[in-house]
Amino acid sequence: MTQAKKRVGVLISGRGSNLQALIDAQSAPDYPAQIVRVISNIPDVFGLERAQKAGLPTAVIPHKNYPDRPSFEAALNAQLKADGVEIVCLAGFMRVLTDGFVSSWSGRLINIHPSLLPSFKGLHTHERAIAEGVRFSGCTVHFVVPEMDSGPIIVQSAVPVLQEDTPDKLASRVLEQEHLIYPLALALVATERARIVDGAVHLDGVTFANQPLTNPLPRGA
Ligand code: GRF
Repeated sequence: MTQAKKRVGVLISGRGSNLQALIDAQSAPDYPAQIVRVISNIPDVFGLERAQKAGLPTAVIPHKNYPDRPSFEAALNAQLKADGVEIVCLAGFMRVLTDGFVSSWSGRLINIHPSLLPSFKGLHTHERAIAEGVRFSGCTVHFVVPEMDSGPIIVQSAVPVLQEDTPDKLASRVLEQEHLIYPLALALVATERARIVDGAVHLDGVTFANQPLTNPLPRGA
């Protein structure tokens, strides 16, 4: 018997390109998760159009309509519960969530961040990576914990930082990888192959990359 697909809620605040990557992934018949609701805290964002085009139910829950974070999150939770959501994906969702919300979704709430965590938590990651002169940046999908951009890491992808990079160029190189790793990480969580053991994620049934990367290339390479 095939396992039922996990019911996923995606929270967005903007253009929704990672949402699109998840939508595209779930068109594969054997993808283990299905998006049952897309929620935006900002009206009229492009991500909502993407969801509607894919025939997905949407909701707009404007944080501005609520006096404080807990009441906003109660509205989010009510929608997620009504839809029977089992896993929540943050995909460019630009609101900090309270410890209460995060704890209530512990192990079932994941986020994508445009850096190789734990480096460059927070905003403006590409500007900061270039300013620091790091030779690699990348992206991370992780379980969400109350401390921002800090939870157990599920999947990462590293991309080289080039001398002529601007934040925009680096961002687009990283974004391409985001669109690959978010569907992968969600599938690992949905199939319960990503388990938190002593605060880190243990993955079952995957092949780990076992190849060093050097940037710039060694002489003669
Ligand atoms: C992505 O870079 C993601 O890593 C960050 O916010 C951006 C959202 O982009 N959390 P999009 O809305 O998915 O296109």
